[in-house]
Amino acid sequence: MGIIESRHLSYDYVKLDEEGNVEDVTRAVDDVNLSVEPGQFIAILGHNGSGKSTLAKHINALLVPTEGTIYVDGKETSREENIWDVRQSAGMVFQNPDNQIIGQVVEEDVGFGPENMGVPTKEIWERVEESLKAVGMYAYRKHSPNKLSGGQKQRVSIAGVLAMHPKCIVLDEPTAMLDPDGRKSVIRAARALNDVEKVTVILITHYMEEVIYADRVFVMDEGKIVMQGTPREVFSQVERLKALRLDVPQVTLLAHELQQSGLPLPDGILTAEELEAELRKLSGRETVEAGPDGSEEAGGLPEAAAGAQDRPAGEPGTAGPDGSAAGGLAMDPASDPDGAADRNGGA
Ligand SMILES: Nc1ncnc2c1ncn2[C@@H]1O[C@H](COP(=O)(O)OP(=O)(O)OP(=O)(O)O)[C@@H](O)[C@H]1O
Ligand SMILES: [Mg+2]
Repeated sequence: MGIIESRHLSYDYVKLDEEGNVEDVTRAVDDVNLSVEPGQFIAILGHNGSGKSTLAKHINALLVPTEGTIYVDGKETSREENIWDVRQSAGMVFQNPDNQIIGQVVEEDVGFGPENMGVPTKEIWERVEESLKAVGMYAYRKHSPNKLSGGQKQRVSIAGVLAMHPKCIVLDEPTAMLDPDGRKSVIRAARALNDVEKVTVILITHYMEEVIYADRVFVMDEGKIVMQGTPREVFSQVERLKALRLDVPQVTLLAHELQQSGLPLPDGILTAEELEAELRKLSGRETVEAGPDGSEEAGGLPEAAAGAQDRPAGEPGTAGPDGSAAGGLAMDPASDPDGAADRNGGA
């Protein structure tokens, strides 16, 4: 059995009127079968209101199923006697770090969890130290949390959960309120917990770039899991994701659009490095160089041009007056700082 196993899990939010009669029922999670192996890094995607947070709250028994069951580390969460074990197995981190930090000093805050669990004092300090080191916040142990940036606060929240030695951490949009640097630092910390500490991580996010390192991605819609697979499998289905009102990573979208315009690229390109490597393969040479003045040095791209040949010359979207796809290739901003757009415009 996996660390998290749900069978036909459904949850209804029930709204009662003043007399206590049922006024409205929202089925927020609908017949979900979820299986997570220990040590996996899982991402959950889905449009607003698709049921991600409701599902997440079942993992540490903040909610219990209306129908079906969920087991966390082998314990059924709806049994009263299991709640303590379940909460110790699965910690949660939420969106707003300000609501999660209570201590006046960072190390004190991180120590609260183990203290409440009755961990002996000496061990509390060991746990505080290792947890802060794991999220890269040890240097701030004597600081006041109020003075930290959002990303730093969120890493302190994660350390606070980690200090309870959970087997699993559920992060519900932990980066939603952070700037790009804060987001990166939190995701780096979450990945390190998974890689180094072998903690099972469940990451709920709207940022597609945060998902590409996951072992498995689940996509929710209207309370159901509607897609699952590796990031590559899921992000290969750009049109399906769009229909679910979801984005794909920017580089995946760029590759998809290049593919649509005739370049023979594989589905599910996830990183700029992969796209670069694929484009190099197409260009049939190791390095793509721009001329010193940024001019059409890229004339020598016969295979790429072949990919675009189906289109009649001059059709919108076809690059370059010679019909080569060089303009498209040069769209990788990293290898073409002077910008392909101008060139296309001038063509
Ligand atoms: N406390 C509540 N009472 C009634 N309905 C709720 C409650 N919380 C959520 N819902 C409803 O349940 C459904 C699922 O909500 P949930 O918060 O789980 O979605 P989500 O995928 O986490 O959304 P978001 O991306 O906005 O965080 C939505 O229709 C929502 O309106
Ligand atoms: Mg949510």
